[in-house]
Amino acid sequence: MKHLLTITELHNEEILEILSEAQQFSEGKIWTPAKEQFVANLFFEPSTRTKFSFEVAEKKLGLQVLNFETQSSSVQKGETLYDTVKTLEAIGTNAVVIRHPQDHYFDELVDGISIPIINGGDGCGHHPTQCLLDLLTMQQEFGKFIGLNVVIVGDIRHSRVARSNADVLKRLGANVYFSGPEPWMDETMVNGNYVSMDEAVQFADVMMMLRIQHERHAFKMISSKQEYHQIFGLTIEREAQMKPKSIIMHPAPINRDVEIASSLVECSKSRIFKQMTNGVAVRQAVLKRALQLKKEVVLNG
Ligand code: CP
Repeated sequence: MKHLLTITELHNEEILEILSEAQQFSEGKIWTPAKEQFVANLFFEPSTRTKFSFEVAEKKLGLQVLNFETQSSSVQKGETLYDTVKTLEAIGTNAVVIRHPQDHYFDELVDGISIPIINGGDGCGHHPTQCLLDLLTMQQEFGKFIGLNVVIVGDIRHSRVARSNADVLKRLGANVYFSGPEPWMDETMVNGNYVSMDEAVQFADVMMMLRIQHERHAFKMISSKQEYHQIFGLTIEREAQMKPKSIIMHPAPINRDVEIASSLVECSKSRIFKQMTNGVAVRQAVLKRALQLKKEVVLNG
């Protein structure tokens, strides 16, 4: 399959192949396509990590990068997402990376667009490259997924990171648990595996903290940041209870002193900036896969 829309569409073998390729890129592997290729980055929602790590990955692969500016584009004249992407395809773009606030925005694209679409995040839906970089970070740390205890903490309901990670980690044999305010739990995901923060830190190999997604809340959902931190946050006291080889992850951006104590962001257990570094290698692997598959389709007629 040429697109990467959700992690669900990838078989375990494909996931492990992408991780292996990404590991090689992280160790300095060089690959560039045989001929000039153009990739457009369309970000209809704010982003720092995803947008710039895709751009770094594209430049490392020798791709021609087209950064789509929503504010100065014909989207402002009412052009649809489909017509925008169809236009980019018509002028010779070889792949698109899209972040969009609408869940499953790609459903309206897949039938008519014949260049690879890489999902950089859709609403509360999916974030497959974040999931892959999280997996790479865990694989580098533990060398396996089977039997790992991963606790995903926080705004589960509004988090595309939680959705993507919970699905694939279970498939790869990890034990996935959830913690955070109960109104933010999605029962279809949690399925009885709810633990308190004080329980979680005792047995977790990975504490995966999530940002509170204020922009996706219809009304104010926490009374105070301090109270949230004390009940649901990774405090300095809770970090001291964690197992010696356990790690802390967070997709970022971070609300310091809310979901995690500020001084823990760069503590010895934190892999938060390692995740960001891994994001470049994962995106190189994903882009290579998309562009190579496109080439194979053409060659096979
Ligand atoms: N983790 C993540 O997706 O960060 P950005 O929103 O900055 O891309």
